[in-house]
Amino acid sequence: MKVLGVETSCDETSVAVYDSEKGLLSNVVSSQIDIHKEWGGVFPELAAREHTKNILPVLDKALKDANVSLEDIDVIAATFAPGLIVSLVIGVSFAKALSFATDKPLVPVHHIEAHIFGTFIEKKVDFPFLALVVSGGHTELYLIRDFEDYTYIGGTLDDAVGEAYDKVARMLDLGYPGGPVIDELYVPECACIDFPTPLKGKKEHRFNFSFSGLKADVLRKVESGQFTKKQIASSFQEKVVDILVKKTLDAAKEYKVKSIVVAGGVSANSLLREKLTEEAKRLGIKAVFPPFYLCTDNAAMVAYTGYLRALKKKFVGYDFKPLARIRMDKFVEILNSSSTV
Ligand code: KG4
Ligand code: ZN
Repeated sequence: MKVLGVETSCDETSVAVYDSEKGLLSNVVSSQIDIHKEWGGVFPELAAREHTKNILPVLDKALKDANVSLEDIDVIAATFAPGLIVSLVIGVSFAKALSFATDKPLVPVHHIEAHIFGTFIEKKVDFPFLALVVSGGHTELYLIRDFEDYTYIGGTLDDAVGEAYDKVARMLDLGYPGGPVIDELYVPECACIDFPTPLKGKKEHRFNFSFSGLKADVLRKVESGQFTKKQIASSFQEKVVDILVKKTLDAAKEYKVKSIVVAGGVSANSLLREKLTEEAKRLGIKAVFPPFYLCTDNAAMVAYTGYLRALKKKFVGYDFKPLARIRMDKFVEILNSSSTV
């Protein structure tokens, strides 16, 4: 089965072709980072315009790289949720038009489940596992018993971790996106500020996250003028990684899983990769990280997740709508209750 994946949920326009026999045939990603840099974040209307401009050339290249034509494709998959609605609409409408024109079935994919299951392109993970989702818009823990069997365990009460990275980078005048720059600046010896741990001692929030207080603490240190950028960035990163590692391992122990899959843009973080791998190993748990090309937004993960969904024949009609905000367990509920075609 050959699946064409389309991803436009934020600021990357991407199309990929996944072949169930040969593996990933192509994955073309057109990034808008340079365009959004001057705004210090993603500017929705600009993102939508860029998707409109780029989607056809990106499709063209993805087909060429895969050495296939549209007629060879069996299924069209697209990210339907969550994301910037003006961006999602472009990819969804494009996928619907392709499905209509080629008479190939359409499968909807949730961006977060794509981040999680995209890792399966390269790595084998046994069920059940814990998923730590860390991206620009999400910080969530899920128990994954099977494909489409998701239990929400906890999530952020305010900012997402990637968002906190981006905002701290802005305070320090380090540019956008902030995660990779702060990660690059990090030096363990420079992590000299002991930021307070958010939600500490609140049992009901043991699997929830909060980063807005930490962000405010960072701002106070910036304004004090007493610390270098490297010291603030390193201390921030150390605190964030400590929080993520501790909560994830506590959840892994409580839910008795043997594997943890980390997904989303922040999974590229070098300290998180190192610390979680090391500390999980001590507990006999395997921490699985995607290869770097699958960490940030891409359509390879959408094509692969679309393939898993197509195996279940969960095809939808053209009335199935994109949604800006919806958790992936709820998305599956909607999918299961809507008429599939
Ligand atoms: O998953 P993603 O590409 O887009 C969303 O779905 O949000 O994640 C983007 C986020 C940005 O906030 C970026 O700063 C962060 O991932 N990021 C990182 C690193 N690389 C990207 N954060 C920390 N360390 C990194 N190395
Ligand atoms: Zn993402």
